[in-house]
This record gives sequence, C-alpha cells and structure tokens, in this order.
Amino acid sequence: MKIETGPLSPSPLPDFLYGTAWKEDRTPALTELALGMGFRGIDTANQRRHYFEAGVGQGLAAAYRSGVVTRDNVFLQTKFTYRPGQDHRLPYDPAASLSDQVAQSMASSLEHLGTDYVDSYVLHGPASGYGWTAADSEVWGAMIKERDAGRTRLLGVSKVSLSHLEQMADTYSEAPAFVQNRCYARLGWDREVRRFCRGRKITYQGFSLLTANPEVLRHPLVTGLAVRANATPAQVVFSFAHAVGMLPLTGTSDADHMRQDLAAIGLALPAGAVEAIESLAG
Ligand SMILES: NC(=O)c1ccc[n+]([C@@H]2O[C@H](COP(=O)([O-])OP(=O)(O)OC[C@H]3O[C@@H](n4cnc5c(N)ncnc54)[C@H](OP(=O)(O)O)[C@@H]3O)[C@@H](O)[C@H]2O)c1
Repeated sequence: MKIETGPLSPSPLPDFLYGTAWKEDRTPALTELALGMGFRGIDTANQRRHYFEAGVGQGLAAAYRSGVVTRDNVFLQTKFTYRPGQDHRLPYDPAASLSDQVAQSMASSLEHLGTDYVDSYVLHGPASGYGWTAADSEVWGAMIKERDAGRTRLLGVSKVSLSHLEQMADTYSEAPAFVQNRCYARLGWDREVRRFCRGRKITYQGFSLLTANPEVLRHPLVTGLAVRANATPAQVVFSFAHAVGMLPLTGTSDADHMRQDLAAIGLALPAGAVEAIESLAG
C-alpha cells in the first residue's frame, strides 16, 4: 500500500530513533511494536545484509492500518550503502554509475517503505575512512538530486570523522542535516564531531550508546545516578545523550526496554551530572 501524502509533509523530528538493524524476520513485528510503544522515528537502510527494509515497510503498514500512526507523524530515515557494505542482495545494478545506484536504491527504499518520500536519506559511510573522495562527491550530488526531487526532505552522513565533515564544508555551501555516528564515551562521546555539528546546526544522531560503552554502564557515577533517579544505567545514558543535544538511537527488541528508553528522555539529571558523564572516560 502506498500512502500518498505529498513529498513535503513535515514529520516532526522525534526525540528518539528506533533502529531496525539485525532484526531479520522479527523486523515487521518489532517495528510495529516500537510505533505502538510511542517511537515516532524509524531508522533503516537499503542494505539487506544488516536490515530488512521491506519488513520495516510491513511494520509501518500494520501500524497505519491499526491507526497507531499516520505517514505524517512518523519520521522515516533510510540510507544509501556502497557496494562493499552490501552482500549479494543489492538494491541497485552494480554496473551502473554511482549516481544511478543512488537513484535505484532510493526507488527501491520507497517501494519497501510504501511511501513516496522519506524524511531523511543518509550516506551510510564515505567510501574511504581517510577522507571525502570523488566517489562520495558523486553520491552526495545524486542524493541532493533526490532531495530536490522531493523524495527525501533532508540529507545526512554516517560514520564520518571531523576531517570528512571539514572537507564537506569546504566543498558544499550547504551542510548535511544529520550526522549519524557510533558514539564512544572514551572519545568524549565523539566530542569533536559533536562540536562541529553544534556550530552548524547539524543534528548529531548517536548509535551504540550502550553497546560501545559497557564501562560507562558499570561506572559508579552512572549507577549512582540511576539509583537516585529510580532509573536504570541505560536510561541515564540516554537521558545524558538527550541533554547534550544528541538524537539517540536504540535498537532494543524488548518491550520493557522500549518503554524505559522512551521514558529516559523525560528523566531530569541533577546539576553537574551531564558535565560529569561527558568527561567520564575521555
Ligand atoms: N550508521 C550505521 O552504520 C549504523 C551502525 C549500527 C547501528 N545503526 C543504527 O543504530 C541502531 C541501534 O544500534 P546500536 O548499535 O545502538 O545497538 P542496538 O541494536 O540498539 O543494541 C542495543 C543493545 O542494548 C540493549 N538495550 C537497549 N535498551 C536497553 C535498556 N533500556 N536496558 C538494557 N539494555 C538495553 C539491547 O538489548 P535488548 O534488545 O534486550 O533490549 C541491545 O542488546 C541500529 O538498529 C541501526 O538502526 C547504524
């Protein structure tokens, strides 16, 4: 079922994104459950190796049918993934130009998600870890065309370093709307990239906030704050992430954790706690 709502209907930016990676056959049910629990942002990718994007579409369709959400009040984000990040289940012709691969991947994402536009389209990672390349420029140009044609409202980049972002800033007049990075506490929670984003009104999306930081979840500062707030250490981390201006992702498969993760956004940490957590490990 295709929901025709017009390409520019703005879905508000949610406080949390529900991540759909690694869920395979459980993707439709978990997507529907997450929407039912109150998530209003969904992150996926047209990368069958790690995501079942068509399953996300099935979950969305079920949630539309039961009236839990409409296309207008759910924020949908998907990604373009280069050939090396894919397995044999490609959403494009690998012999096509990179520009054509972006157009084909986007068309396939819209089909999977049963919509005629997404809210955010993200480059899943630059071609090289060492800098912005000509390939990235071609892909980014094609992504801008998708945006200008109304098939995505906003654009983002993922797995980027400060130098990738600086090179982008030197090359393009317009900054991406989003940066999505794995967020390590030992790197000051990606301090340099977050500072760059803050200065340019780029929303920083943090993933692996729990799995990349097991030492933080065990740290007495965090366990102590959790006891004081009658919350869990995971909730303290998500509350901290929100307080420093991140848009966090969670990919939990557990209904109680979904509830806890969403509730963490409303958790008020005591004075000084945010600064203390920010400098905990790096
Ligand atoms: N751009 C990229 O390249 C990239 C890479 C990786 C991920 N992502 C995105 O980010 C999303 C999230 O991925 P992630 O790496 O952050 O890992 P994740 O899949 O969210 O895993 C989080 C882990 O934390 C647990 N958890 C969640 N909430 C909890 C809570 N309240 N209490 C205790 N445990 C809790 C989960 O277990 P339970 O299931 O038992 O709750 C799970 O084991 C992905 O689904 C994907 O959309 C993007």
